[in-house]
Amino acid sequence: MYTNITTSQNQGITNITINRPSKLNALNKETIQELHAALRVAELDADTKVIIITGSGEKAFVAGADISEFADFSVAEGGKLAAKGQELLFDYVANLSTPVIAAVNGFALGGGLELAMAAHFRIASDNAKMGLPEVSLGVIPGYGGTQRLPQLVGKGRAMEMIMTAGMIDANQALQYGLVNHVTTLEELLPLAEKIASKIMRNSSVAIGAAIKSVNASFEDGVNGFKTEIEQFGNCFGTEDFKEGTSAFLEKRKAEFPGK
Ligand code: COA
Repeated sequence: MYTNITTSQNQGITNITINRPSKLNALNKETIQELHAALRVAELDADTKVIIITGSGEKAFVAGADISEFADFSVAEGGKLAAKGQELLFDYVANLSTPVIAAVNGFALGGGLELAMAAHFRIASDNAKMGLPEVSLGVIPGYGGTQRLPQLVGKGRAMEMIMTAGMIDANQALQYGLVNHVTTLEELLPLAEKIASKIMRNSSVAIGAAIKSVNASFEDGVNGFKTEIEQFGNCFGTEDFKEGTSAFLEKRKAEFPGK
């Protein structure tokens, strides 16, 4: 069904694997479109409670946007590339109401790190290397990297990473707060799945509302506290809220309908 990605769905988790190992999973136009399509399917699938994105092979998560596709672009084409990519993939991931975990299994460079940063949080294997090398190519990060990296690691660290175009290893990324956990490559997906199964015990509707509220704090001109109040109020109209509170009072485990 897809050329550059594979997907599977099992026990509430949709796994999406970027699968262009010969190009270190670089994001060409087609891969971005396929990722958009697969994420949309997962978001609409009532049985998918968590999405895990990873790269195929043992070397790369994603080694960046596919440089061969934009090497001869004009100013207008460059701008369009960034706008379209952000719309189809990076903003799309960040604003999904289904939680997205990036399992960073190797190089996450340029657009690859930007994809991992667009996910709701990240875990990494100990061989992972992360960076935004765009200025070494005469360009800047265009898929949200100049915005999301400072949000995650602070302005000074982001400035240094972007200006040097250097890579940090998994432990430094952990220290920076860029990833939440570091483990071995073998344990990476099992750890992602373990975290996913914890998430799945909770109300998916409430999680969607929480994602919206957290994201609101990073949107220009939006008062995140107001968004939180609105989203908090909305929860009271959901079946999940009735089930969650009843289950607590009845001293039983909640069975959330996800509505
Ligand atoms: N776009 C297109 N192709 C890419 C790519 C990218 N971002 N990253 C890697 N590839 C391709 C290489 O061209 C090579 O293809 P080939 O075998 O047809 O020549 C293949 O993937 C393997 O990469 P290679 O460079 O041979 O592996 P390496 O182990 O020597 O180096 C990296 C690994 C990640 C350090 C190196 O591939 C690299 O610097 N990639 C570009 C990173 C980058 O600048 N990304 C930001 C883009 S905006």
